[in-house]
Amino acid sequence: MAAKRGAWRTRFGFYLLAIGSACGLGNLWRFPYVVGENGGGAFILLYVFMALAIGAPMLIAELMLGKNTRKSVMVATQQMAQKSNTGFKWAGRLAVILTIVVFSYYAVISGWVLHFMTQFFVSLFSDYESASSKTNLAALMGNGWLQLMLASAHILITVVVVVKGVQEGLERWISYMMPLFAALVIVLLVKSFSLPSTPEVVRFLFYPDFSKLTMSSLNHALGHVFFTLSLGFGTMVTYGSYMRDEDHVPTAGFRVALVDSLISLVAVMMIFPVAFQASNVPLTDPALMFEVLPRYLLGIHGGTLFGLAFFVCLYMAALNASIGLLEVVVSNFVDTKKNIGRVRATWYSGLVALLLAILPALSSSVLKAVRVGGRSLIESLDSLLINWFLPLVALAILLAFYKGTSEKEKEVSFIDKDKFVSYSMYPHWIFVLKWVAPAIIGLGFVLQVLSLF
Ligand code: PHE
Repeated sequence: MAAKRGAWRTRFGFYLLAIGSACGLGNLWRFPYVVGENGGGAFILLYVFMALAIGAPMLIAELMLGKNTRKSVMVATQQMAQKSNTGFKWAGRLAVILTIVVFSYYAVISGWVLHFMTQFFVSLFSDYESASSKTNLAALMGNGWLQLMLASAHILITVVVVVKGVQEGLERWISYMMPLFAALVIVLLVKSFSLPSTPEVVRFLFYPDFSKLTMSSLNHALGHVFFTLSLGFGTMVTYGSYMRDEDHVPTAGFRVALVDSLISLVAVMMIFPVAFQASNVPLTDPALMFEVLPRYLLGIHGGTLFGLAFFVCLYMAALNASIGLLEVVVSNFVDTKKNIGRVRATWYSGLVALLLAILPALSSSVLKAVRVGGRSLIESLDSLLINWFLPLVALAILLAFYKGTSEKEKEVSFIDKDKFVSYSMYPHWIFVLKWVAPAIIGLGFVLQVLSLF
């Protein structure tokens, strides 16, 4: 990161990157199929509740950890562990390992986005028949080497952006793209909501049928909350470390959590009518979004251009989130003074991610036969990391912060005398961090273990 600590030029800069890191493929690609897997409305309620009741307070804690220590997650948790004499110093290390592995398969999915982006571009110059053959998911899924190439391209692009410094240029770029993306999504939302499948979709999404929840639904909700808010990776600790002294962390954290949750809701409302329309697609398929959206877009008036714009924006979102992931690995390298320099650290991290991307990239082709509990390799990896590993790492970072920060420090960082609500919210925040979050994460984990039997 070219910026010095605490040197966001503007508050807007912080929001752009924090929201940009939170809102990515997690909202548009992952959330819909996780909702599909967990039966719809009841899960959405559970998810929204967890995002606001647990996710937002934990996001505030991670940002605060970064802002108060001005360090990235590994050094920050080490400092906390020293101060409190507790054993949480490994929390940061686990977060970094998790981050690089997640980055590698996130790159594979980003590669899918790149694929559709280029295919829509090519389709601008061809007729409907050949366009629909190009935007066909099966062709991509059957070709592992293509997926690996696309993932490599994505990793390369991310590395180059990070080497050049995030602050420069990209901030401006993204600020142009975001309103356009929002507009496209809204148009698509209106369009898909006028499909005949809508009443059925509304019932599925908003009529909570609690019998659809399973023993692992709680952890699926928690895992996705952490994934989509970039918690438990160290991204938000790093971004917090660049906040300006005068920025109020709780306000920032709450806003980011709110915007991200809204976007997830919009995403399911946009995808599901289309998915219901294409009745042959299982709602639990990780490729759900890629399966239904391109086909639908091609069928609407001006759909090729629309699809191109949509996938370009989605790619920017994926890139922005990937930068957050790579940034964690690199800033931890630099903070722990591995004497290799920032540029080299970035290239090395990219290389490791590339090697790790090989298995998930080949999971739907060469390694198609490898299935764990009926799931493909990429699905199993995603489930293992996000539903099992991530909640524990997020909890460890939270505990490191909670134990290593004195009561007084927490209070001073949380309460802002100009913000009256901060006085009344403070005890709730402490209560959630101390009791509610550990208890719910613990419960989720136990239920998930029980679901195995
Ligand atoms: N939150 C991102 C998303 O929803 C994923 C991500 C996780 C990005 C962690 C950065 C760090 O797509």
